[in-house]
Amino acid sequence: MPEQTSAEAAAESRHPFIRPYRASDRGDVARICTLTAAGGGDATGVYSDDLLMPEVFALPYVTFAPELAFVVDDGTGRAVGYIIGVADTAAFVDWWNREWTPGFVARHPEPGPATGRDPKFTEQELLDAGRKPERMLIAELDGYPAHLHIDLLPELQGQGFGRRLIDTLRDALAERGVPGLHLSMDPGNVSARAFYDRLGFVELASSKPNSPLLGIPTAR
Ligand SMILES: CC(C)(COP(=O)(O)OP(=O)(O)OC[C@H]1O[C@@H](n2cnc3c(N)ncnc32)[C@H](O)[C@@H]1OP(=O)(O)O)[C@@H](O)C(=O)NCCC(=O)NCCS
Repeated sequence: MPEQTSAEAAAESRHPFIRPYRASDRGDVARICTLTAAGGGDATGVYSDDLLMPEVFALPYVTFAPELAFVVDDGTGRAVGYIIGVADTAAFVDWWNREWTPGFVARHPEPGPATGRDPKFTEQELLDAGRKPERMLIAELDGYPAHLHIDLLPELQGQGFGRRLIDTLRDALAERGVPGLHLSMDPGNVSARAFYDRLGFVELASSKPNSPLLGIPTAR
């Protein structure tokens, strides 16, 4: 076995920890999103551009509300998991239409070449999601105005970081006077659903089997 360098040994001895997002995490956040976007698994190569998923489900969040993004740092400065959220989904939708859609449409005017992967959530649907943020305007926004996305790389899962990230975001939102937060999810991601159920998320009235919608108060 090759000898370990002192830098590698130092990195290995460091422990992952949660810290606020910073601008230099942007690339890591995009990468984590792609690596977990296929029902919780790796979506690399599924769409014509590996940045498409992050451009819809991660990068708008850290652009609009970097103060509500938290990452798990592996101890070397590299982000290996995140929670991202917005406090006011309706305001986020307004911002998205003004600031995000024009650039997104210019970068992705139409689906790219077929990848042969045939995902259930098609590239056309992903493009539609990127240009129509109104999909986020759920009926329960009065009680649950905030929403979130959370993703951890496989090596970090099952160690309590998911619970701690949710607690961190709930506390940050509660401090800002936000009563509740919600999320919508892929119904095929049964592992994530078990996680949310365990944490006390409940199905909201407009939840549908093919598009589950879960909510939780910010107060713990
Ligand atoms: C889903 C995810 C965020 C959960 O985070 P995690 O760090 O793995 O979960 P934790 O270790 O914090 O688990 C918290 C609790 O949920 C429970 N839990 C987590 N996954 C579970 C599962 N698959 N089945 C049953 N319980 C589960 C844990 O036992 C734990 O219970 P406890 O705190 O009462 O002991 C993470 O696994 C992940 O990022 N997965 C891939 C991407 C993804 O699916 N994101 C969600 C998209 S909607």
